[in-house]
Amino acid sequence: MSAPKPAVQGRYEGRTVAITGAAQGLGLAMATRFAAEGATLALVDVNDACLTEAAEAVRKEHGATVLATTVDVTDSGQVAGWIGAVEAATGSVDVLVNNAGIIRDNRVENITDEDWDAVIDVSLKGAFLCARAVLPGMRCRRYGRIISFSSMSWRGNFGQANYPRFFIGCLIVVVRRRCRGRGVDSGMRVRQWPRRAAVAGLRSSGL
Ligand SMILES: NC(=O)c1ccc[n+]([C@@H]2O[C@H](COP(=O)([O-])OP(=O)(O)OC[C@H]3O[C@@H](n4cnc5c(N)ncnc54)[C@H](O)[C@@H]3O)[C@@H](O)[C@H]2O)c1
Repeated sequence: MSAPKPAVQGRYEGRTVAITGAAQGLGLAMATRFAAEGATLALVDVNDACLTEAAEAVRKEHGATVLATTVDVTDSGQVAGWIGAVEAATGSVDVLVNNAGIIRDNRVENITDEDWDAVIDVSLKGAFLCARAVLPGMRCRRYGRIISFSSMSWRGNFGQANYPRFFIGCLIVVVRRRCRGRGVDSGMRVRQWPRRAAVAGLRSSGL
């Protein structure tokens, strides 16, 4: 038996939602859901062929406007160019979903320098670069949502010493603080999920 479809309320009509790593998996699932709620989508991924196919599928299913761009989230120039182009085309980026990520699980002693850098770059630096690119516009418009994923890996998942979701908790908290008390707080929410991981990151960082 298939799961019941969630009620569609058009909650994102007139909003532009930017999702990284949207060619498949969770990113594509979120893109489909936001499209069902009326959002204009700005999707990026490094997998060009898969992204084109995904964007076409979402367009067909929901009649959504979908801007699909091949962007490597670890490249600050590409990220800045992408967000600038989306803001020029749609007027705003209202929601950013930092979803792009890779895993290179291994025993600590077997993690190579390259694998460490690759995972941290995509999941952590990528989330930072995208948040940095959208923040000025969100603060200026006094509206924005940034969704970044933490993970239970902060507990020390086997093979995931290089999985930076723990540190994303710190990034989320710092971005949230940056948005507070500057006239933006009422319209800006930076979600922490799961809360415990973010709190653990906050405590250990001494913030
Ligand atoms: N699936 C899970 O159980 C789970 C659990 C916790 C966290 N997460 C995180 O959620 C996110 C999505 O998970 P998923 O299972 O859908 O992963 P996935 O591998 O199916 O999708 C990730 C997407 O990110 C893209 N990507 C990789 N590097 C990129 C880069 N440099 N620039 C742009 N795009 C890039 C990939 O091409 C891919 O399409 C990941 O960040 C993952 O770490 C997943």
